[in-house]
Amino acid sequence: MDEAELNRWFDNNRIVLETAYLAGSQPWQQSGVGLRTPRTAQDWEVLRRPIADCISSSGTFLDIGCANGYLLECVLRWTQERNLQITPYGLDFSEKLATLARQRLPQYAGQIFVGNAWNWSPPQRFDYVNTTLDYIPASLHQAFVQRLLEAYVLPGGYLLVAEYLGKHTASPELKINEQLRQWGFSVAMVKASQLAHDPMGQTRIAAIKNKWP
Ligand SMILES: C[S@@+](CC[C@H](N)C(=O)[O-])C[C@H]1O[C@@H](n2cnc3c(N)ncnc32)[C@H](O)[C@@H]1O
Repeated sequence: MDEAELNRWFDNNRIVLETAYLAGSQPWQQSGVGLRTPRTAQDWEVLRRPIADCISSSGTFLDIGCANGYLLECVLRWTQERNLQITPYGLDFSEKLATLARQRLPQYAGQIFVGNAWNWSPPQRFDYVNTTLDYIPASLHQAFVQRLLEAYVLPGGYLLVAEYLGKHTASPELKINEQLRQWGFSVAMVKASQLAHDPMGQTRIAAIKNKWP
């Protein structure tokens, strides 16, 4: 894929996601959940709590693709229940969604950035970084994980690679933790969840501990 094709891929993805999310009325819909299959606040919690469950110490947390900031808000709440102090940061390539995130988390508005995760240079590295691989063309997934470990995650910190599945997503050949291991990354922890009333609604988070200096 040459640079022009890559830019077209990102532009197309941004327009499709931004249009769909901004049409949603519920906070989880503006974060991409329940747009085609109805979902409740409880469903959202089942599908996203595994991210917070990967966080075991206080520190900084960057959500790549933070959309309207709802995951950041929930991760703050779910980790506070365990007396962890998390400083939230967000990155999204949609200016409009980043604006919603700043409105949702006004005290952290200066920590919500606009940029493309593929080529953005973070101002600092973070203890925990959450992403999915869907943000990048498949041929670049392995390089993307390597770049996040080198440029985004603090040494000893964790890269959380999320896999969200549902009726409308294709089943991957390998689970995300298996895929990461096949690429040579050492997965330290896996957290997963499934909706009781819709077993196709699933989340799996593979956490890679950063050994990069
Ligand atoms: C499914 S939402 C994720 C919301 C939340 N982080 C979560 O995990 O539930 C995906 C978001 O990622 C953003 N996004 C997609 N590709 C991106 C990229 N290459 N760089 C930055 N943001 C991207 C979209 O604009 C969208 O807001």
